[in-house]
Amino acid sequence: MSQAPRKSRVFSGVQPSGSLHIGNYVGALTQWRDILDSHDCIFCVVDLHALTVPENVDPKALRAKSRELAALYMACGIDPERATIFLQSEVTAHAELAWVLTCTTPLSWLHKMTQFKSKAAANEAVGSGLLCYPVLQAADILLYDTDVVPVGDDQVQHIELARNIASRFNHLFGETFVLPKHKVRQAGARIMGLDEPTAKMSKSASGTGHAIYLLDSPKRVKKAIMRAKTDLGCEFRFDEASPGVRNLITIYEVLSGESREVISERYEGRGYGYLKKDLVDVVEASLAPIRAAYAGYTDDPAELDRVLDAGADRARGVAQSVLSRAMRNAGLGRR
Ligand code: AMP
Ligand code: TRP
Repeated sequence: MSQAPRKSRVFSGVQPSGSLHIGNYVGALTQWRDILDSHDCIFCVVDLHALTVPENVDPKALRAKSRELAALYMACGIDPERATIFLQSEVTAHAELAWVLTCTTPLSWLHKMTQFKSKAAANEAVGSGLLCYPVLQAADILLYDTDVVPVGDDQVQHIELARNIASRFNHLFGETFVLPKHKVRQAGARIMGLDEPTAKMSKSASGTGHAIYLLDSPKRVKKAIMRAKTDLGCEFRFDEASPGVRNLITIYEVLSGESREVISERYEGRGYGYLKKDLVDVVEASLAPIRAAYAGYTDDPAELDRVLDAGADRARGVAQSVLSRAMRNAGLGRR
């Protein structure tokens, strides 16, 4: 009897810093949800990465954020029966492999990372963790023989780096790691800020009208959308529209499943207020079930613990065998 081919392996993660917003949902989590059955999926709450965020020096708050994020994964439809969900710090192989890879990664590669450059420029006291951040991310990915990494487009450079780190290691020590590829959405790979549609919607940006957070109240969602920056015209054709209108159409398109052409035609000749009003309903239709499911998970912390314990157990099994392979190939240990 022939064996079923191995499903291709998916790994991705989000930092438990700030609050999950609709950009994270559209760019990352909806992609995860869509491939739950076709792929072997592993989704991580990357709390070691969150230590690079200066506000996360509060242990109680970080722990609470990690639980919140794991519950939100599930509330967004990441079914723990069909995916492995766990906390990065509970599988020590991540930190161990990160050290080994730190030693094989040229410093110049890390200095080229745009996220490092922008975060370092915005921060006076930059920890070395911020520079090594993409090496830890490479360790996350490579530890699971990952084939595909579904992310928003701001992470593409990091996934390409992980691939280069894997290639270099394989070249130095022989075939060890699978070379991963990124996967980004065609529409919605970069959702922009509602208040400033030329900048990415981001967890760290402040301002009440910037983002729609997944746990925002309906009132806040409405306020943010109705106030979103557009322009003085009434151009709905996607390619001709201003960045703010394109952003609203993109969110509408991804959440409703309707094409941008159908959406643009519907509002042609009308004001942006009509588009915004309907978008409030479209976003609410996505967020209401997430809020309800999230409340269910937070009401049952024991269930959340059960999921995360089982997830860490499974992740440890896979990660340990790849870590041992890498250590053995690099000559670490006695055998
Ligand atoms: P972060 O908020 O940086 O922890 O990102 C978590 C995931 O969401 C990553 O896959 C990002 O690429 C994705 N992401 C973050 N912001 C956006 C955005 N504005 N639009 C689309 N995807 C995003
Ligand atoms: N750097 C990613 C972000 O900020 C989070 C992350 C850490 C990640 N490890 C990962 C994403 C591994 C994909 C795969 O969004």
